[in-house]
Amino acid sequence: MSKKKTAAIILGAGMGTRMKSQKPKVMHHIGGRPMINHLLATLDVIKCDHTVVVVGPGMDDVAAAVSPHKTAVQQERLGTADAVKAGVDALGPFKGNILILYGDTPLITEQTLNAMLAERDEKNNPAVVVLGFEPMEPGDYGRLVTDDEDGELIKIVEAREAAPEELAIPLCNSGVMVVDGSLLDGLLSRIKNDNAKGEYYLTDIVGLAREDGFSASVVEGDEEELVGINSRYELAQVETILQDRLRERAMKAGVTLVDPASVYFSFDTQIDPDTIVEPNVYFGTNVTIGRGAHIKAFSHIDGAYIGNGANVGPFARLRPGANIGDGARVGNFVEIKNSDVEQGAKVNHLSYVGDARIGAGANIGAGTITCNYDGFMKSHTDIGEGAFIGSNSALVAPVKIGDGAVIGAGSTITNDVEADALALARPEQKNIKGAAAKLRDKKRALKEKSKKGSPE
Ligand code: UD1
Ligand code: CA
Repeated sequence: MSKKKTAAIILGAGMGTRMKSQKPKVMHHIGGRPMINHLLATLDVIKCDHTVVVVGPGMDDVAAAVSPHKTAVQQERLGTADAVKAGVDALGPFKGNILILYGDTPLITEQTLNAMLAERDEKNNPAVVVLGFEPMEPGDYGRLVTDDEDGELIKIVEAREAAPEELAIPLCNSGVMVVDGSLLDGLLSRIKNDNAKGEYYLTDIVGLAREDGFSASVVEGDEEELVGINSRYELAQVETILQDRLRERAMKAGVTLVDPASVYFSFDTQIDPDTIVEPNVYFGTNVTIGRGAHIKAFSHIDGAYIGNGANVGPFARLRPGANIGDGARVGNFVEIKNSDVEQGAKVNHLSYVGDARIGAGANIGAGTITCNYDGFMKSHTDIGEGAFIGSNSALVAPVKIGDGAVIGAGSTITNDVEADALALARPEQKNIKGAAAKLRDKKRALKEKSKKGSPE
């Protein structure tokens, strides 16, 4: 890692017209958070000292998302050099390495950034290090013109300005660079906009640095890291690449994914070793799972904690604040929100549990509902350790079921039940001897009569 201090300027002023969106492009999510936050996280890993995000006018939501990092507003879209200038002005005097990144190219890795910073420290001390790559389709990318002998970077030519032999160069400009902070401001101030687009091209700094006797060089990167997002289609492509990385990370950490491609993670999903995740499971943000848990197929898990050896699913829905204890079981078609299901408790079938505590070892029968909302207020249900709630019970909160209590099936419980009591809150059963047969005879006779009366 470089011993010099590092600052980063992230360009994000573009609205991203092709996204056809009300929100700035860099605010679109991948892996459960805005794409800009992925870049900031990578900069954290390389211990970047200062970061400025360049935004367009009125992009207050970007400023909020990147806080406490600074934002600088580029008033008019005059080109990449002008955008970087806005960032440099906000950064203030800085003599270390300045990384220039694009907010819509969020997959760049810390390894690549470190390789570029290391190249800046090489003995020929390049003023500019550019991240190049050889895309499948070079198209509109700027072309990197290098010296045949020493491989040094001579200049960057924009595709529109390139001569045919330059257009044939496979090595392209990713846009990412590292520049000597003591030179950047001076170089930027000499860039002109007398070109095809009438914009201030950041790419001109390579030629200008060389005019001053400095060198420039190229580090080559992988196209997969450099996919830019300009459309919803590319957003989905980047999501796919990111998901593959997250799946690989989970498997390397000792998690079994039976069918990795069908499991969706968030950037912060945390799973301990020996947990098994079956196909078609979705993890929203803020999920933590212990060791040896089993997450069965088609479960949707968001903002939940799942303890060691717990069993969840198939078809379970865990919402924020679901806290599933060690060895607990949450079965099919069960929804749990803001509730503690303590160690070894079971909610195996077709239940809604919201704003509740289910004590250790309690058993919640099929179809049990905690009625936590009366249309105005949310209330709490407390179920004691080892309690048994019979199937199809409605527990009308606020209500407390004591340890070891038993609730008869089909009860609607509105009053607290003390420990070890049996509560039955349903009409008593009455059997009337022979009444079913009598009823059948009566109905049959009625049907016969109506058939005779009706015309064929
Ligand atoms: C730029 C490079 C090109 C490179 C390509 C890689 C220049 C002149 N050209 O071209 O060599 O191959 O990126 O993708 O730098 N932006 C601002 N303010 C502006 C202009 C741009 O913030 O005034 C931001 C955009 O939001 C975007 C990034 O800078 O994130 C790149 O701008 P864009 O106009 O897409 O540059 P390209 O023409 O693609
Ligand atoms: Ca572009």
